[in-house]
Amino acid sequence: MMMAPAASDAGFEALTRKIARERGFACSAYKPTCLMRRIAVRMRARGVHDYAAYASLLDRDPAEYERLLDALTINVTQLRRNAEAWEALEREALPALLERHGPIRAWSAGCSSGEEPYTVAMSFARAAAEIGRPAALDRVHVVGTDIDERSLERARAGRYAEAAFREVPADDRARWFTAGYPAEAGPVLRARVQIERRDLLEQPAPAGPWHLITCRNVIIYFDRASQDALFERFATALEPGGVLMLGKVESLLGAARERFEPVNVRERIYRKP
Ligand SMILES: C[S@@+](CC[C@H](N)C(=O)[O-])C[C@H]1O[C@@H](n2cnc3c(N)ncnc32)[C@H](O)[C@@H]1O
Repeated sequence: MMMAPAASDAGFEALTRKIARERGFACSAYKPTCLMRRIAVRMRARGVHDYAAYASLLDRDPAEYERLLDALTINVTQLRRNAEAWEALEREALPALLERHGPIRAWSAGCSSGEEPYTVAMSFARAAAEIGRPAALDRVHVVGTDIDERSLERARAGRYAEAAFREVPADDRARWFTAGYPAEAGPVLRARVQIERRDLLEQPAPAGPWHLITCRNVIIYFDRASQDALFERFATALEPGGVLMLGKVESLLGAARERFEPVNVRERIYRKP
């Protein structure tokens, strides 16, 4: 049986430094317990019992390196994930953004395989229809970014299995995606969404202005200092009146609370005054 690794384990530190150096994955900004759990899954899968042996396996086996990076980035997602949060966004935040003149720009930060940026576009469409201004959707531009190339490829393909649609209303399913499974995002939805690679820890925000930033189920894996830095970057990147939406179990912490006012705390929706 493998021993539970300790954060101070020299082998663990050497391994995470190696991953950062060779693959640019900034391990030091992630919670060590989270990294350990993920690495332990891969070590178990390969029957390796210590970090040094696993590091040399990575040197010999590039496919294992890819599987490890996949495991570290944890890209579970689905369309309209936690639907009640999107309903709150449509009701309480998007109408004011849609009343603006000119382009309306949304950034889905840590978008995994694209379900979230496509959801943002569909949500704007629902809110625009609700306020009787469906044409406002033409002014909406959504940029989805992630660090993980394989997820980004899937995001660009915009093709999803039935399970991804669990929380999608039937009218959105029929309107925006091709029939059958896997279902592909149609051209009108696709035209609203652009996908780019970006490391949230190492790179600045993509060029704005930004009126909505969604960053859901991403910061939970980051250590506190990285979370603080990211919140500050979001606050700077958003226009006044711009909206930040976090994941169900994430909250604004520390100084970031001064930079935003709550829109719907339960659904983790905040506004920059
Ligand atoms: C659990 S998924 C969340 C997907 C989506 N936002 C949602 O809530 O359903 C977490 C995503 O964060 C991405 N991620 C992790 N670290 C990142 C970083 N430093 N920069 C950009 N994306 C990162 C992962 O690749 C993964 O796709």
